Amino acid sequence: MKRELLIVPFLALIICLLTVNVLAVDKTVVNWAVGGSIIKMARELAVMYTEEHPDIEIKILEVPASSTERLNLYLQFFEAESDKVDIYTIDLIWPGMLAEHLVDLNQYGGSQVARAHFPAIVENNTVDGRLLAMPWYTDAGLLYYRTDLLGKYGYSKPPENWDQLEEMASRIQEGERGAGKEDFWGYVWQGNVYEGLTCNALEWIASHGGGTIIEDRKITVYNPRAIAAIERAAGWIGKISPPAVTGFIEEPSRHLWQSGHAAFMRNWPYCYRLGNAAESVIKGKFDVVPLPAGEGGQRVAALGGWQLALSSYSNNIAAAADVALFMTSEQAQKYNALQASYNPTIKALYQDQELISANPFYAKLYDVFINAVARPSTVTAPNYNQVSNLFYHAVHAVLTGDEESRQALGYLQFDLQQVTGLEIVTEQ
Ligand code: GLC
Repeated sequence: MKRELLIVPFLALIICLLTVNVLAVDKTVVNWAVGGSIIKMARELAVMYTEEHPDIEIKILEVPASSTERLNLYLQFFEAESDKVDIYTIDLIWPGMLAEHLVDLNQYGGSQVARAHFPAIVENNTVDGRLLAMPWYTDAGLLYYRTDLLGKYGYSKPPENWDQLEEMASRIQEGERGAGKEDFWGYVWQGNVYEGLTCNALEWIASHGGGTIIEDRKITVYNPRAIAAIERAAGWIGKISPPAVTGFIEEPSRHLWQSGHAAFMRNWPYCYRLGNAAESVIKGKFDVVPLPAGEGGQRVAALGGWQLALSSYSNNIAAAADVALFMTSEQAQKYNALQASYNPTIKALYQDQELISANPFYAKLYDVFINAVARPSTVTAPNYNQVSNLFYHAVHAVLTGDEESRQALGYLQFDLQQVTGLEIVTEQ
């Protein structure tokens, strides 16, 4: 009897130790670098994933929202061959530049799932036959406009060309200011000295028929239509766009717009659901259309988007690959699109009725998304970062009045030649 009594606590102790041991089993940690507004989605998707995979812990490393700042940070990690990040969220324009640091996802099941994504993005992410990143969401520059204000000032439809936008923006601005909204502006966009300005300026130039900076392996940026396009944008500042726009990245422009202080905004699709959120003052009072055309040009959207790539310095490549494949899966992309209007890269999702009724512009603007104009990142790889840097600095100097458009683009073509070695095509 005495002996049996001793066995009970002994067994209890053993069970206790075993339980503690099971709970303490080390989880595999996958570190994911992600930033900007989508970080909320990343956190929610990480919870979904780890509920199904209790042996994995996803740690989110918040990185800068600005593409330019983010790249600078990533380059430091890569330079140090750091194993602190397993998954990098990378811009569409980077695969060619970062190729040497990234894992070929074809070896981790990427090739099977890549077929469902837009082929152009998969091709963009494939360097020398290596699939370096899975598409996560795609972006195209869009024009947001206030339906209520257009109606109030007697406009029956949104602008189709830049002249119309300028006219509507100044009239609405004048009227709203007259009615007491002194800090109301006509048009906001992204004019900071960073990658986003390259996207905005590419749209201005291409929509005026001035090309896409570098085409067919030739530097074409110095041409009368490109010069006129940049000049036109510089003319908006202080008139229909706030002087602070030369310091704006995406979020400051959205904040001004979403607080009801602008008639028009150029931005990416993610602003749609945020603008329609319950607490938004512009909820139900806006819509999106393609950006306007210039004289002799067409309506152009710059192509953007983000991908998930694995670091070749990671110690957990297999686990990280599984996480990246889940995050870019149809289930996760549908979640991002429904919750936060991040455009899927999986073609079939554009036929999904639930998604189309949440974001009607997915159906309406489908052609804009698939015809969006790429920046010259593939043709100039691995030097695209320098190319873009020279371009946005030149444009910024015109916006701030430090240089004339003709002069800035004239110098730019030679700087671009020095970096790329490509031929210049000059048109006076
Ligand atoms: C968006 C685009 C990205 C682009 C960036 C510029 O995030 O998706 O491709 O480089 O804006 O600000």
